[in-house]
Amino acid sequence: MKTVTISTDAKTSRILIGERLGNLKNYLPPGRAIIITDENILEYYGDVLPDLPVVVMGQGEKSKTLETLHDIFDKLLEYEADRSTFIIGIGGGIVCDVAGFAASIYMRGLRFGFVSTTLLSQVDASVGGKNGVNFRRYKNMIGSFSQPEFIICDDQMLATLDPVEFRAGFAEIVKAAAIRDASLFEYMENNFKAALEMDGPTLEKLIYESVRIKASVVEKDEKEKGERRKLNFGHTFAHAIENLTDMLHGEAVSIGMMLAARLSEKLGFLEGTAVIRIEQLLRNFALPVSLNLDPDQVINTMKKDKKREGDAIHMVLLDRIGYAFTHEIDYKQLEGLLYDLCQYR
Ligand SMILES: NC(=O)c1ccc[n+]([C@@H]2O[C@H](COP(=O)([O-])OP(=O)(O)OC[C@H]3O[C@@H](n4cnc5c(N)ncnc54)[C@H](O)[C@@H]3O)[C@@H](O)[C@H]2O)c1
Ligand SMILES: [Zn+2]
Repeated sequence: MKTVTISTDAKTSRILIGERLGNLKNYLPPGRAIIITDENILEYYGDVLPDLPVVVMGQGEKSKTLETLHDIFDKLLEYEADRSTFIIGIGGGIVCDVAGFAASIYMRGLRFGFVSTTLLSQVDASVGGKNGVNFRRYKNMIGSFSQPEFIICDDQMLATLDPVEFRAGFAEIVKAAAIRDASLFEYMENNFKAALEMDGPTLEKLIYESVRIKASVVEKDEKEKGERRKLNFGHTFAHAIENLTDMLHGEAVSIGMMLAARLSEKLGFLEGTAVIRIEQLLRNFALPVSLNLDPDQVINTMKKDKKREGDAIHMVLLDRIGYAFTHEIDYKQLEGLLYDLCQYR
């Protein structure tokens, strides 16, 4: 097992990579605790869960809503949760985002921890303290910054994951490598087969390195004023794509990264050979790299992105593999570029 610690002003969060769900009870503080999870986890792992009250929420982006929070609060009241109750979110990014948000605002905030059960949430979603729900088709519009006390990343649980969901998780690892770590990128180029075959040490290394990268960024800039924006590489486009299609987050991020890489090339920052390497690596993980998009629709959706600041948008671009920077582009310029990019193939 490997541990990564995130220390921010408010809290210290421990991420336990290679720890097992069966050991969860060792991490719970004395006193009451309540689990928030979904049906899939209950079905596969119900008999391994500690004997605690369980709140079951729905699955998919459609469940990441204020209505779901409402139902969770009803259940917490029913179970007489009070300020000393500890909340455990067990699931993928959706359960962690919602459970973390519920815990962070119920009675002005309860202590909480996660068992992160998808590759995407182990390497990214459950780490970093961003919690929230979607609102009126806009992703993560309502939420909070609040760090869980611990995150158990049990890679053995990935065996029951739908293969499409499993592969989608690699998009966020490619992202971490592309923005921060050229040697991790190279490692992925050389070891993607072992990773896809769920080789234990390979997966553990990839999860550990991504978490380490995310932790170092979050420690510098928890509230996303500068450095943390780099973690949004590919995401401004991805959020628009998720809004317009029913793609998985990781799939949309894959296409979003390709658009951002091509944009970096078009603006003269990134070499064409690097764009080809990114495309090939994503293809190796069977991730989508292009989509027939209507540029007008993409722009209109992006304009409503909450990261918009005035008439310009902060785009994360690459200078080379392993080095990202933020670049302000105004919508008019982006519109022109997107017209070219969408006709790229
Ligand atoms: N807060 C953040 O910083 C952050 C970062 C990245 C992504 N996210 C969010 O994460 C969400 C996506 O998360 P996700 O990709 O984990 O999807 P998900 O939470 O929807 O999980 C995918 C599916 O797999 C099932 N599942 C989960 N673990 C399983 C297991 N071990 N075995 C069998 N089935 C299992 C779930 O029930 C669900 O049906 C998005 O809403 C995205 O916005 C948040
Ligand atoms: Zn993401």
